Amino acid sequence: MSNPILSVKNLVKTYPNGVQALKGVSFDVKQGEFLVVIGLSGSGKSTLLRCINRLHDPTSGEIFFEGSDIAQVQGEEVRSLRKKVGMIFQHFNLVPRHTVLSNVLMGSLGRVGSFKSIFGFFSPKDKTDAHKYLKLVGIADKEKIRVDQLSGGQQQRVAIARALAQGPSILLADEPVASLDPATCHTVMDYLKKVNKELGITIVCNLHFLSLVRQYATRVIALKGGKVVYEGSPQDITEEWFEKIYGQDAKEVHIN
Ligand SMILES: Nc1ncnc2c1ncn2[C@@H]1O[C@H](COP(=O)(O)OP(=O)(O)O)[C@@H](O)[C@H]1O
Ligand SMILES: [Mg+2]
Repeated sequence: MSNPILSVKNLVKTYPNGVQALKGVSFDVKQGEFLVVIGLSGSGKSTLLRCINRLHDPTSGEIFFEGSDIAQVQGEEVRSLRKKVGMIFQHFNLVPRHTVLSNVLMGSLGRVGSFKSIFGFFSPKDKTDAHKYLKLVGIADKEKIRVDQLSGGQQQRVAIARALAQGPSILLADEPVASLDPATCHTVMDYLKKVNKELGITIVCNLHFLSLVRQYATRVIALKGGKVVYEGSPQDITEEWFEKIYGQDAKEVHIN
């Protein structure tokens, strides 16, 4: 069996205010998987992704990414890690007054260096790639439009194209459809699935709702109070497991 692309071992994150958001989380992600992380608000999902791409400093534990432990790396090593780890956020995090194309080109910023990108020196390859990824997410015809004129679903597709433009080997998506209506949710999730299948990019995606989990995940882990309480196939989450993961709030999550 091939080595995992990502291996998280006994990860602990305690925030400066004393909140222990992750209490010894361990799991592996294989190349090409579409791993979904579920759990209630406050269970530690965002903290987990932010430790993996080192937006946060883990308190202890190890995070092996492509074979080396990146849990405590600093400076240049963090910058080179961020190029390989694409991130997608609930609120898209695009630059509002810029065009679709300019937002996607900013994805290659990590590769071309900030000096070049500030002065608009993108290579023909950067531009070809930007077009390729916009086409992949079905919005090539919108490249000259300002992103703040697009719908939420379209903006998230721009964010996916931007993440791809940085040439990542893994994509981390933090509740990427939480701000979208149900129909648009599926469109965006379908594009993430396409990225996973057609480009072979490994995906770790935080989701709140179980309905989407069954449709998109190849494997699931559930967090509760900063601990992994379930790991397995989406089909194996029985009603009993569901209650363990969501507890008192089970009904509310079910309805959606
Ligand atoms: N920057 C922060 N400082 C202090 N506590 C935080 C911070 N971010 C998150 N937390 C706390 O850590 C816990 C896990 O939060 P989070 O990772 O955002 O969970 P989720 O994404 O599953 O909603 C919560 O108790 C939350 O209040
Ligand atoms: Mg969160």
